[in-house]
Amino acid sequence: AGKQPAGGGKLGFTAIDPVSRSVDDLSVPEGYEWHSIIRWGDPLFKKTPVLDPTKQSAKHQGEQFGYNCDYLDIIVDKYSGRTGVLVANHEYTNEDMMFDAAWFEANKDEARRIAMNAHGFSVVEITRKKNEKKWTYVQGGERNRRITLSTEFRVDGPAAGSELLKTAADPTGAKVLGTLNNCSGGTTPWGTVLSGEENFDQYFRGRGTAEEARYGIGTAATGRGWEDTDPRFGLNHEGFENEANRFGWIVEIDPQNPNSTPVKHTSLGRFKHEGANVRIAKNGKAVAYSGDDSRFEYVYKFVSADTYRKNDRRHNMTLLSKGDLYVARFTGNSPASQIDGSGALPSDGAFDGTGTWLPLVVGGKSKVEGMSVDEVLVYTRIAADKVGATKMDRPEDVEPSPVSGKLYIALTNNSDRGKAGKEGAMEQNPRVSNRDGHIIELTEAGNDATATKFTWNILLVAGDPKINSSTYFSGYPADKVSPISCPDNLAFDSAGNLWISTDGAPSTIGYADALHKVTLTGKDRGRVEQFLAVPTGAETCGPVVHDKDGSVFVSVQHPGEGGSFAQPASLFPDFAKDAGSAARGQFYGPRPTVVQVFA
Ligand code: FEO
Ligand code: CA
Ligand code: CA
Ligand code: CA
Repeated sequence: AGKQPAGGGKLGFTAIDPVSRSVDDLSVPEGYEWHSIIRWGDPLFKKTPVLDPTKQSAKHQGEQFGYNCDYLDIIVDKYSGRTGVLVANHEYTNEDMMFDAAWFEANKDEARRIAMNAHGFSVVEITRKKNEKKWTYVQGGERNRRITLSTEFRVDGPAAGSELLKTAADPTGAKVLGTLNNCSGGTTPWGTVLSGEENFDQYFRGRGTAEEARYGIGTAATGRGWEDTDPRFGLNHEGFENEANRFGWIVEIDPQNPNSTPVKHTSLGRFKHEGANVRIAKNGKAVAYSGDDSRFEYVYKFVSADTYRKNDRRHNMTLLSKGDLYVARFTGNSPASQIDGSGALPSDGAFDGTGTWLPLVVGGKSKVEGMSVDEVLVYTRIAADKVGATKMDRPEDVEPSPVSGKLYIALTNNSDRGKAGKEGAMEQNPRVSNRDGHIIELTEAGNDATATKFTWNILLVAGDPKINSSTYFSGYPADKVSPISCPDNLAFDSAGNLWISTDGAPSTIGYADALHKVTLTGKDRGRVEQFLAVPTGAETCGPVVHDKDGSVFVSVQHPGEGGSFAQPASLFPDFAKDAGSAARGQFYGPRPTVVQVFA
């Protein structure tokens, strides 16, 4: 701290060295400290018990902080600066680490219901003392809320009520219980939280239809076996054929009102949404960008029909209900013969080019031959295939800079690029067997978020430059950057520097997953500086950078993954003793945790 930060912003730090993937600790820069704000199992309400694995129940879990926190925001109340809400979603569960194996075998239905209630969202009030940075959560706070698989969501937009969404339990096709596999997200300019239902396929046992296959849903029994506990997870169960169509959406929740009904927005399409982020265009339209996180999938944008009104929250909460949906086609400007798959730059010295947002639904009409609006929105991947969108290397966060308006696209990796029968390298995805990922910087024509044309360039080609010659940092000297691999979540500080959290670095460059700052402008453009590393087995999620307040927040997701309840691989965040003897009565194992790092 104290040093003039590269690229401006208020968070001075000296980059930490990359950390071994076996270190079971949160590593932060010199002069910084960290503490856990809330952990899996912490009680949200006055009468909620603390986590005790000998007495755990679905009811308790439904009132406690959920598992595997991913998207995160810390929304500070205006004027006070000492109160606010913490919003996190809970992507998935690690049953091996949550449950004693013998108990799990003997109590499968209850264990599955606990796991169902460990999914969803948590909203908790936070507070801090005057002149202190450190936030703590408030058990029993007025806005505290758990959203689980039994919370009712309202479906809106053109596909609400569609035949494709009706089930025996919901003949309206407009009310869904719960949300699943919520990965990343975005907080809207009107203060609600969007979250993507990502790998929902893994929860469903399918019938073997082409549509199911396009979404990765198989016909085998699922690993979790939820279809044996709740029939709706078996699409082969009569009346529940469409249940999986009710997941894969962007959901919107209002963290200020615990009684509000959360919404699934069909107008943003259905795919493995990583998340969604909104920019207000010059003409007032709300533009939401979203990536489909699978190999060879697409980048999408939604443009609202109506316009944003300052200080009219109720109106703004309807903006994502109606509008146009597009998918991106990227075109390179260098000869294809110069893109050899190694990551070597073409002769013009840049991976760059132009692009078009291809219409899928415009003005309430389908732009895809042979598909109705309902079909385009429910089977959006199939629609995008038909219009010739560009197959990308796993689009994770797609986030516009609040400072420049430029859009940043985290392409986390794609080990299959260039494999037999798969697409090869192209300027926009320039490496075959793309192990480490890259980041695209996209500028809308005229910097108008509603434009249908754009230009793009690759900001960085990730990896460890010490051992990997295919890395690129926008011309910044590769020997002066922190190694970075598998970019996932994006955030910005007050000066518009990009912050990137990673998921997968332990299995690629061998270091613990990290949070990095990347300077985007000036002489330091392309400079990557590592800010923190998460403990063994964890990925870094949901970075929130309050640089003016000297704080950074992250979700530490699945610490100790690969270990088990009996033999934990991590003891984060409490590092309690006797973990090796953890029986169901003494839980000492790792907990997914939201942490605050501050100077
Ligand atoms: Fe759940 Fe795309 O990471
Ligand atoms: Ca993610
Ligand atoms: Ca070029
Ligand atoms: Ca991830």
